[in-house]
Amino acid sequence: MESDGLLFYKDGYKTPEFLSSSFCIHLFGERVIVDHYVLLFPNSETLTDYAKTLINYDAKITEGPGKWPDDFCPEQNLLPEDASMYFLSALMPSGMILVLLAPNAPDEQIASLCQEQGFNTVHHVAILVDDIYSAAQVWQNKGFLPLSMTPQEDGSLCQWFFRNWAGQIIELICRQWTGKETFSCENIAGLRLSELAA
Ligand SMILES: [Fe+2]
Repeated sequence: MESDGLLFYKDGYKTPEFLSSSFCIHLFGERVIVDHYVLLFPNSETLTDYAKTLINYDAKITEGPGKWPDDFCPEQNLLPEDASMYFLSALMPSGMILVLLAPNAPDEQIASLCQEQGFNTVHHVAILVDDIYSAAQVWQNKGFLPLSMTPQEDGSLCQWFFRNWAGQIIELICRQWTGKETFSCENIAGLRLSELAA
């Protein structure tokens, strides 16, 4: 659901059944294929409870859970402390990926986002594309601005964040292989820093 340029999950629609079957959706007037949805939770306990529900739907936990970046990319010491978060991603039997985020501490950026916009806010939605540059043009024509000069590319994943006037972030993602990872340590510092600077 779009409201003044920002995306929110409709009440009652943040469910594994609904999200895992919603590959093809309309976003800002564009028909897109979703690679992953990102859901926010108040803390690691509520996040873990939701993850248990996903496992009951035969989801496979593919990344995490853990404190990000420390438990995932400990070499990423470039990132400021407020970039940290609790992170888990799950692959649904349908092939949809759900990324769950929660703050570890009240001074983290993710905690302020939840406070300002609530837990139904869409942190970002990742759109699967074949050609990241032509997709970038489409979204720039809609008024979305790239958060970095070029995409972050590691040879397997190519990712690029865009942001509109209201502050909504979307991610364009292009996969060279059939992996299900939602980030690489090589890409992430650039992506997260670009998001924090926005
Ligand atoms: Fe993402």
